[in-house]
Amino acid sequence: MTQDLRIAMIGYGFMGKTHSHAYRTVNNFFPRKHRPVLQVLCARDSAKAKEFAETWGYRHVVGDWRDVVNRSDVDAIDICTPNDLHAEIAIAAANAGKMVLCEKPLSINAAEGERMVRAVESAGVANTVWYNYRRIPAVTLAKQLVAEGRLGRIFHFRAQFLQDWTISADLPQGGTGLWRLDAGAAGSGVTGDLLAHCIDTAQWLNGGISRVVARTETFIRRRMHVLTGKVEDVGIDDACEVLCDFTNGSLGNFESTRYARGHKAKYTFEINGENASVAWDLHDLHRLQYFDHRDEGIIRGWHSVHVTDGDHPYMKQWWVPGLAIGYEHSFIHQLADFLGSLETGAPAHPTFRDALQTGKVCDAILRSAKSSRWEETGVDWRER
Ligand SMILES: NC(=O)c1ccc[n+]([C@@H]2O[C@H](COP(=O)([O-])OP(=O)(O)OC[C@H]3O[C@@H](n4cnc5c(N)ncnc54)[C@H](O)[C@@H]3O)[C@@H](O)[C@H]2O)c1
Repeated sequence: MTQDLRIAMIGYGFMGKTHSHAYRTVNNFFPRKHRPVLQVLCARDSAKAKEFAETWGYRHVVGDWRDVVNRSDVDAIDICTPNDLHAEIAIAAANAGKMVLCEKPLSINAAEGERMVRAVESAGVANTVWYNYRRIPAVTLAKQLVAEGRLGRIFHFRAQFLQDWTISADLPQGGTGLWRLDAGAAGSGVTGDLLAHCIDTAQWLNGGISRVVARTETFIRRRMHVLTGKVEDVGIDDACEVLCDFTNGSLGNFESTRYARGHKAKYTFEINGENASVAWDLHDLHRLQYFDHRDEGIIRGWHSVHVTDGDHPYMKQWWVPGLAIGYEHSFIHQLADFLGSLETGAPAHPTFRDALQTGKVCDAILRSAKSSRWEETGVDWRER
């Protein structure tokens, strides 16, 4: 017997599409008791919202999220808005007893994230944050190889997330589409936007980060603000470079920027252990590179594993071995795992509490960029 899970989605931009696609597709590939129903779409522009609702099959359109969180015909609130709205919506939703699925980063800072964690945990509602890269099969396979101990003692974790779309000084800040350049809406620049993905993956694969030292830069310091029509100071970081210590004794190094000309979404990570290494690249997302020093010398080298076989994570639900899946599937996988957790009662990782640990690292990075000193993160990493 399936059970409807009535979703209200707040915001219908880029993530609104990826999530709607996942809600519509998940049960076709992953047998789950709960079946998402696209119950309410919440957005301020009613004409555009109506068009989106018709395209994707939402039953109702509502203009103000405050009119959504208490509705008795809704079970779960999915937050796909700019970052500054996550906390207020999530806390109101939890207080109304709704499950909350929130886009990353959890919040614009860790203090706000703490309040969100308290809200969902005291309400006892299911919660998760869409750090979807964990659910790309090659990344999940990396987790499996690390957890099996194949790499041995870990020495290094390095990651980069590189883009180039804000290099023009003519690009304004703020408003629809450009809220990422407005510190008021985004909280921070590349740190909360891109680096947060790297930090989530890093702690998931390699455990907690205890301290960081960082350098950020804002290359274009004044931009026209779309909402005020005036040239204003830019409050976000355009680039961020970080060194860190993990609690397991390994060293981390991270870079994120929107000023790497030629790179659109170049997310890569590599882990070096005593026995073996793994490396992954979002531009080639279905491959995991693996090197094992224990291989026989004459054939020792980097293996490029095509992560498309039935015994690879998530892949037996899809096509036949050898056929690749894509970016959008990471959201379907996260949703499938979330629905699975509703059946087992297990936490839907990354929970709000897990995502708060990423927020703590991001806060420490921004503190260090100001102080030019090592900063403790205060991370309490317990996720398994
Ligand atoms: N998991 C990922 O890989 C990933 C990728 C992109 C974005 N994100 C996150 O998803 C969130 C949304 O990003 P996006 O790229 O979809 O942005 P977007 O600009 O494409 O969409 C934002 C949506 O929020 C709506 N919105 C803004 N204010 C609102 C309000 N008061 N009430 C209702 N709706 C409102 C906008 O109309 C728009 O539909 C952000 O937190 C972002 O960090 C995550």
